[in-house]
Amino acid sequence: MASGQGSNAQAIMDYFSDRPGVSVSLVLSNNKNANVLTIARDYGIKTVSFNRNEFYQSDKILDLLVGEAPDLIVLAGFMWKVPEKFLLAFPRKIINIHPALLPKYGGKGMYGKRVHRAVLANGEKKSGISIHYCNADYDKGKLIDQFKTPVAVEDDVASLSTKIKTLEHRNYAKVIDQLLFSKS
Ligand code: GRF
Repeated sequence: MASGQGSNAQAIMDYFSDRPGVSVSLVLSNNKNANVLTIARDYGIKTVSFNRNEFYQSDKILDLLVGEAPDLIVLAGFMWKVPEKFLLAFPRKIINIHPALLPKYGGKGMYGKRVHRAVLANGEKKSGISIHYCNADYDKGKLIDQFKTPVAVEDDVASLSTKIKTLEHRNYAKVIDQLLFSKS
C-alpha cells in the first residue's frame, strides 16, 4: 500500500520479480493518480485505488484484502492511518517503513522532509530507517529491524534524504523476504 512516488514499492516489486515462491499480488493506493500505480501496472501487478469513504466507512478494501489472503501487507509510503479493523484482521501481518531511527522522529506529522529537517536541526550524528509492525499509533508498533547511516556536517535535507532512500531500497525487500520465510 502506497500513496505517492512508489520508489520503495518499486524496489520491492523488482526484488520479488525473480524470487521463486513470492509474488506481489496487489498494489493499493489512496491516490488514483499515484506514480506507484503506474509502476505496478508496468510490472503487470493488479492495482486498486480507493477513497476515504471506501477505506474507513465501508469494508470494500478490507474484504478485498481478506480475499487476497496475503502473507504480508507492506506499507511503503502509505500516508493514511490504518484502521483497527485491518489490524485485527491481519495481526502481525502489516508492516511499515519509517525514514528515521524510531522511537525518535516518529509520530503524527513526522514524514518525508520533516523527518530529515528535524534530524539535522538536532545535530544528530546518525540517522537511518526503521521497519516495524503497524499498530494503532503512528510509528509505534514493534520494531523488526533498523539500518543506520552517518549524518555528515555537510548534509542537508536533500543529501540525507538520498542516503535514507538508498538504505530503504537496499533493505526493505530483504527484510520482507526474511519475514516471509521465517513465518513458513
Ligand atoms: C519513504 O521514505 C518511507 O520511509 C516513508 O515514505 C517514503 C515513501 O517514499 N514511509 P516512496 O514513495 O517509496 O518513494
